[in-house]
Amino acid sequence: MIPQSFIDDLLARLDIVDVVGKRIQLKRAGANLSACCPFHDERSPSFTVSPTKQFFHCFGCAAHGNAIGFVMEYENLGFVEAVESLAASVGLEVPDDRGPPTGQGPSRSKSETLRPLLDAAAAFYRQKLRDTPRAVDYLKRRGLNGEVAKRFGLGYAPDGWDALSSVIKDYRNNADAVEAGLVVAGESGKRHDRFRDRIMFPITDAAGRMIGFGGRILDRGEPKYLNSPETPLFSKGRELFGLWPAKDAMKRDNRVIVVEGYMDVVALAQHGVENAVATLGTATTPTHVQKLLRMVDEIVYCFDGDAAGRRAAWRALENSLGVLRDDARIKFLFLPDSEDPDTYVRQVGAEGFRDALSNALSLAEFMVRELTAQAEGDTVEAAAQIVHRAEPLLRQIQAPALALLLRKRIADAAGLSSGEVDGLVGRAAASQRPRAPAIRQRQPAGSLAGLLLARILRAPPLARHLDPARTGSLPDDGITHALRHVLETCSAQPGLSMEMLAGQLRDSPHRAVCREAARLTRDLPDDIDLEQEVLELARRLPEATPEAAPTDIAALDPAARAAWLAKLRERKGV
Ligand code: UTP
Ligand code: MN
Repeated sequence: MIPQSFIDDLLARLDIVDVVGKRIQLKRAGANLSACCPFHDERSPSFTVSPTKQFFHCFGCAAHGNAIGFVMEYENLGFVEAVESLAASVGLEVPDDRGPPTGQGPSRSKSETLRPLLDAAAAFYRQKLRDTPRAVDYLKRRGLNGEVAKRFGLGYAPDGWDALSSVIKDYRNNADAVEAGLVVAGESGKRHDRFRDRIMFPITDAAGRMIGFGGRILDRGEPKYLNSPETPLFSKGRELFGLWPAKDAMKRDNRVIVVEGYMDVVALAQHGVENAVATLGTATTPTHVQKLLRMVDEIVYCFDGDAAGRRAAWRALENSLGVLRDDARIKFLFLPDSEDPDTYVRQVGAEGFRDALSNALSLAEFMVRELTAQAEGDTVEAAAQIVHRAEPLLRQIQAPALALLLRKRIADAAGLSSGEVDGLVGRAAASQRPRAPAIRQRQPAGSLAGLLLARILRAPPLARHLDPARTGSLPDDGITHALRHVLETCSAQPGLSMEMLAGQLRDSPHRAVCREAARLTRDLPDDIDLEQEVLELARRLPEATPEAAPTDIAALDPAARAAWLAKLRERKGV
């Protein structure tokens, strides 16, 4: 028997979003997260995870439960096994009724052995900061006050070789201290502190638990910043500095600012811009982006305006494309030459910084600007270069509306039509990587229905370009049903406005799907030519099928439904 108190403690330490998110890809959907249900076969997501209630629920198959239930179901484990596996993941040991805890047993997890050392070191460095006027002066000179130093838990690592021996037991032989990255074991077996005479920035995970440090030299010296090495708890490619202190402000603004330096994060916070985080001396990785997009809908990358800053921004763009969603935004803010966020916010204050943020370049603007800047030669050559460089980027994008928008922008920049870009991109992909599907084919038909639905909802008169019968060969799912319903509604009542259509859908079974689809066009600019898009999307629809599709397949009786589906499958050769 595992005591209930332990289960409660375990659930309190787990976040179901992490537990599920580690196993299947989740997308934010309002306050919840959603995915296609892992417990039954479906094409449109009806599986949701609630971060506030800490449970999952599937509207399709009624699967339901907490983090432990999910792991049992998903990994086919018994209750005890699931609890053990989850406990290990957060460094807890399941109490064993068969005897007293064995203590030093091999089952002790890394976080259990390494974290107390990091916590002790952080407390030690904080104390040393209070005791060292030279370090305090340095921070003051850089314009930081005591409050913000406390908020980030800043400290000071003294100049000795073994200062940590006062807080690390058995310093000479302690292998955990080496594994935690605090102590360096030299070739001769000699040990010394990794961080000496540095301002210390503690790094925590998203839940505020210590995982590592960054240390800045006080004056001049090499390296300027020293980070913890990769350890079982710390990995630069996954972690961000300042995530825990920024969490509330990120939620409030639904936005995060990604900067390059520790000092940038701290200085921004001191001036009232609290939703900033920093990468740790590495490029932004897809893991970083994914982590952030689970928490907010908008990421603003803030870089220096020089060539290095532009290169870093381009890397960030490349690493973001594959994990972007249609309801998320990525922006780029370039600061004036020789400024970083730290110096800039000091000059212009929080208001000025927020103004600059609102003028940040959109992903499409930045991408087109860079692609056209790189292209040389006469117009034909330049157009070819633009499309050629854009092709591998476009191919990474999984978000259908974003892909469409970017293809359009790139076509405009190259002076081509979207169709021509499609052709070029498709051909380039086919010739270089014979097995890679061209963009056009990669669009799942289900999304085609979604893209059309989104546009018709925004401009109902455009329904005249679509014959509901042509939806008959789209996948038989909720999106197609909703599209068909909307098309029929519009054709029965020409002149229906967007608001009137929305009103009529309010009580229909397609309401949820329509709302989800409407999100797809929420962030498209107002001046976008929806009619052009609808015509282009409609061209991809298969021709009308001989017998018109039933109005609402879901409403047919089971036998009629099965017969119709069989006919459809036969026709599509599935
Ligand atoms: P910068 O060199 O731009 O420094 O490094 P900074 O952030 O402006 O620092 P201050 O204002 O001089 O104190 C940006 C980031 O690159 C990583 C650190 O994460 C740093 O915050 N870096 C830099 C290193 O890891 N090692 C270094 O030697 C230098
Ligand atoms: Mn700086």
